[in-house]
Amino acid sequence: MTFNSSGPSPTSLPAWHELLNLKESILEQSILELFNKNPARSKQLSIQHDELFLDYSKNLVNDQVMSSLLALADQSALSDHTKAIFAGELVNTTEQKAALHPALRGKAEDNYVLNGMPVHEQVKQSLSQVSSISDQIRQGKWLGSTGKAVTDVIHLGVGGSELGPRMACQALQAYAHPDLKIHFVSNADGAEILTTVKSLNPETTLIIIASKSFTTEETMLNAHSAINWLEENLGLSQAQSSTHVIGITANRENALAFGIDPSQILEFQEWVGGRYSLWSSIGLPIAISIGYKNFEAMLDGAREMDIHFKTTPFERNMPVILALLGIWYSNFLNTQTIAVIPYCERLTLLPDYLQQLDMESNGKSVSLNGESVNYTTAPILWGQTGTDGQHAFFQLLHQGSHLVPIDFIAAVNDPLSNEKHHNFLLNNLLAQAAALMTGRGDKSTPTHKLYPGNKPSNILLVNELSPKNFGALVALYEHKVFVQGSIWNINSYDQWGVELGKQLTHKLTSDGNVSIKEFDGSTQQLSEYIHQHTMLSSDKS
Ligand code: F6P
Repeated sequence: MTFNSSGPSPTSLPAWHELLNLKESILEQSILELFNKNPARSKQLSIQHDELFLDYSKNLVNDQVMSSLLALADQSALSDHTKAIFAGELVNTTEQKAALHPALRGKAEDNYVLNGMPVHEQVKQSLSQVSSISDQIRQGKWLGSTGKAVTDVIHLGVGGSELGPRMACQALQAYAHPDLKIHFVSNADGAEILTTVKSLNPETTLIIIASKSFTTEETMLNAHSAINWLEENLGLSQAQSSTHVIGITANRENALAFGIDPSQILEFQEWVGGRYSLWSSIGLPIAISIGYKNFEAMLDGAREMDIHFKTTPFERNMPVILALLGIWYSNFLNTQTIAVIPYCERLTLLPDYLQQLDMESNGKSVSLNGESVNYTTAPILWGQTGTDGQHAFFQLLHQGSHLVPIDFIAAVNDPLSNEKHHNFLLNNLLAQAAALMTGRGDKSTPTHKLYPGNKPSNILLVNELSPKNFGALVALYEHKVFVQGSIWNINSYDQWGVELGKQLTHKLTSDGNVSIKEFDGSTQQLSEYIHQHTMLSSDKS
C-alpha cells in the first residue's frame, strides 16, 4: 500500500513554538518545588501498563510543557504514521519496504496484512520451525555428524542479527537450559571466533549463521572460520551442509549458495528490519536457551505493548510519553545525550541494543520529503548498569556541566538475588534519582560540595524480569523510537549511513595496494605503517 509520507516539519507546528517559549522559564523552575506545589504530581505523572510502572514525575516539565508536548504529538503526523505502520504500508520509503515487525508477535485476530495479503500464516510457519528446531536441540535430539547431541551453540551475526538474541539470552538467563551454552560472536576481530572455538568440542557444537542479507562481511568471515574449524576437526568436507550449521536469513538464495542444507535454513521476511528482528527466526538462540514457550511469552509481552501503544490516548501512552520527554530535552533544552541505566546486571546489554535501535533508526538529517532538517534528531544514547556506573560516570551526572536525562530501569523482584542484595540495589537506584533531582547545599556550602540538583530522570520498574516483561520493555523502546522518528518526520527504517564505510573496507580488502592510492594522505600513511609493522603479513616473513 502506498505510504503518504509527507508529515509536517515539526518546527512549523504551533506547539513547537509554544515549547520554544516555555524553554526559558522551565530552566528557572525547580522540580522539587513543582512537587511541593502539587502533592499529586508523582501520581499524575506515572503510567502503569500491565507489570510495567513508569514514574516520569522527576522530569523538568510542568503542566504547560506537558500539554504543549501532547499538542505537538497531535499536530504531527503521528496518528497517520501509526496507522500506516500497523497497516503494512511501505513506511521505509527509500527502500520501499514495510516495517511490520509487530506482526511477528501478532495473533491471527490482529489481521496484519501486506499488500492486502494476511501475513499471519507466513509468520506462524517460520516460528514453527523455530519451535521445532529449538525443541529438538533442547531435548538432545538434534545430532551432530558423529551422532552426539548439541551442548554448545555459536551464534554468528552482527547488529540486528545478533544484539537482540545476545541481550535476550543474557536478560533471561534465569530461564536458560542448564546444559546448553550459547556463545555469541559478532566482531570481525579474529581473536573472538578463534578463542571461542578453541574451548569447544566440534562434535557437540552447532553454528548458527544469522544474517538478513547473508552478505555481511563480518558474519561471513566468522562463518568461514567456524566452518574451517568444523572441517579440520571433524574430517568433514562441506561442513556448511552438515547438521552442525543452521542459517537464518531473509535471503534464502544466498544461504543456499553458501551451501547450507535447505532444511536448515530458517527464513524471515524482507519487511522485518534488522534491528527489529529478534522476534523473528533470528530469535532462534533465545528459544534454544529459554524454551519456545518462554520465547512465546516474550512475544506476548511485546504484543501487549503494541496494543497499549495503538489504543491508549497519548497522555497515558508509555512510549508516547517517553518519546515526547526525549524531544523536550533534545530539541528544546539542547541535551545531546540520553543515558539508560539498568539496575540489573542481566540488562548490561540493553544500552548497546538501544544504541542500534535508536541511533541507527533516528540518526538521520533528511526528512521523509528528502529535505535537510534544521533540528536535532536522535540523541547519543549511552549507559551502563548501576551500581557500577555510580563509581564511574555518576560524578559527571551529579556535578558535571552537561544535563543528561536518564532512564533508570529495575526489576522489583529478582528470584536470582536475595532480599539483602536486592533491597540494597533498589535503594541505590532510588537514592541516585532523588539525589540528582534534589541536589544539596546552600550559600554556605563549599562550591565543590554543592550538588545543583534539578537533574531529570524516568524510573521504569518491571515486576520481575520475566520473558513477558522483557518483551514489553523492548517493544516499549521500539515504539518510543518510532514516535520520535514520526514527529521528526524522518525515515526510521533505513540505514544508508553505514554503507560508505562498508564499501571502502571492501575496496581496501579486495585490491588493497591499488586502491590505497585513491585515499587521503593520512589513510595512506596509516596503511603503510600497518603494512610495515604487521607481524602477520606473509610477505614480511
Ligand atoms: O549495520 C548495518 C546493518 O545493515 C544493520 O542494520 C543490520 O542489523 C546489520 O548490518 C547486519 O545485517 P545482516 O543481518 O544483513 O547481516
